[in-house]
Amino acid sequence: MFNRPHSQPGKTALVDRGVEAHSAEATLPPDVESFYHLSHGDHTGKACQGTACFAARHLNPGRWAEACEQNPRVYCLGECFAAPAKGQTNPRPPVKVFSKHGIVLGRLAAGGARSIVAYESHRGYTALRKALQTGPESILSALEISGLRGRGGAGFPTGRKWRAVASQPPGDKYVVANADEGDAGAYIDRYLMEDDPHALIEGMILAAYAVGANKGYIYVRREYPLADSVMRGAIAEARAAGWLGSRIGGKDFSFDLEVYTGHGSYVCGEETSLLRSIEGQRPEVMARPPYPTERGLFGRPTLLNNVETLVNVPWIVEHGGEAYAAMGFSKSRGTKALSLNSLFNRPGLYEVEFGMPVRRIVEEVGGGLRGGGKIKGVLIGGPIIGMIPPEHIDTPLGFDELASIGAGVGHGGVIAFDEHTAIADLVEHVFSFGAYESCGKCTPCRSGSGRVEEIFANARAGDAWKKDLLECRDLVTALKLASLCGHGTGLARFAESILRYYPKEVEACFK
Ligand SMILES: Cc1cc2nc3c(=O)[nH]c(=O)nc-3n(C[C@H](O)[C@H](O)[C@H](O)COP(=O)(O)O)c2cc1C
Ligand code: SF4
Repeated sequence: MFNRPHSQPGKTALVDRGVEAHSAEATLPPDVESFYHLSHGDHTGKACQGTACFAARHLNPGRWAEACEQNPRVYCLGECFAAPAKGQTNPRPPVKVFSKHGIVLGRLAAGGARSIVAYESHRGYTALRKALQTGPESILSALEISGLRGRGGAGFPTGRKWRAVASQPPGDKYVVANADEGDAGAYIDRYLMEDDPHALIEGMILAAYAVGANKGYIYVRREYPLADSVMRGAIAEARAAGWLGSRIGGKDFSFDLEVYTGHGSYVCGEETSLLRSIEGQRPEVMARPPYPTERGLFGRPTLLNNVETLVNVPWIVEHGGEAYAAMGFSKSRGTKALSLNSLFNRPGLYEVEFGMPVRRIVEEVGGGLRGGGKIKGVLIGGPIIGMIPPEHIDTPLGFDELASIGAGVGHGGVIAFDEHTAIADLVEHVFSFGAYESCGKCTPCRSGSGRVEEIFANARAGDAWKKDLLECRDLVTALKLASLCGHGTGLARFAESILRYYPKEVEACFK
């Protein structure tokens, strides 16, 4: 059904080998394999070194010490509600919907819908049935009206991205779901895939129909083995039900899906890196333009969206863009799933409307900090984003509102820090992660992040000087100005927020 991708400069060798996408199980060439952390074997039973586990390390110092000694490191198992985590038991987080409609987490809160029968009993595939009657344009305009913005971090308007792919000339096009969810503290996509897999599949079929794509990939990170197998099973169910394959719904529309398992790399969540990973190339980040919407996977127009973004789509198509836009506030419409870490009294997965102040997320949704701990700061959306200090805790959850204080919505993982975390420890942890995961293409990120880690490690040991702090400031400026992707600029954003909001504690670290 699916034609091989057209030959493109630089892609010819792959296509000539008749390879549509590199099989995750196949042996990787050494220059590609050396990029990844988890190509060999299993991380099951390993302790996690992600930022949510770091924030909670005093709850189980032995486990944290174990995580720090492991090689390769494991950054985020998606069990931040039980941090510090060890990835053995597949625990389930509490799930609750605080918004008017449970658009993203509704089925999870009702116990989940792992099978197609369960999904259909929750109105599953109703939106697709409707769209097959009303046509691709109705999906595109509903999305544009909804105001939905990408949930993978950048907050790009989804309708605009879909329109860009739809307006490319006909031919092979791809839809790719970014299920790499590497931002420590985020476990939203993991449980959406494990407990509501058909919502993602339906979102992807709607996407393919809207933009004219005929093949899709779900890029699942290696740290999520259960999500990987549940998605594979759900795809088989959808194919058996006729929702994937040729002439879907009797229309001149064919689309099929495949799961691609990652090999352990945070930076593969970045879109150009992810696409190169599927192609079997060394997944260094690529400069844009061209954007994937014009030249993506195998050089063909590609729609790449985050899992949660795609899971919003069936609801929007079924209920209309206006109903979606009626929720939320400002330029952040609809709802957002949040995953709260184990420092809260009520860690778990929660859906809220945009506009809810961060204070309410901390106090009402999360129930405040364990043991009545005093909040030192909150990171929403992973380690490479600005910290929200207590004095900005009344800022509403919104893309532009959080950006205005140097923070962001990011992926929606919410990590609270209490007084157990000293700022120097936190900076060393974040830059250690940054250096470990750098793709190595830009000098400030490749070398500078390791140097900031070293300086703050010295600062913790009482062996750092004011001139070292000046060097850090210069390195942060270089990261901000000369990084090709959000990994480097995100590290800079994190550091700037620390220098801005915690100046006394930072200064006190340097002689
Ligand atoms: C270092 C880095 C890591 C990223 N990791 C993820 C990820 O794990 N999941 C994700 O959806 N987006 C991630 N992104 C953002 C993607 O590049 C891309 O913007 C997003 O998947 C687009 O989907 P959306 O428009 O639905 O948000 C990452 C970006 C960077 C720079
Ligand atoms: S900022 Fe870092 S991760 Fe991003 S392209 Fe440059 S070196 Fe690679």
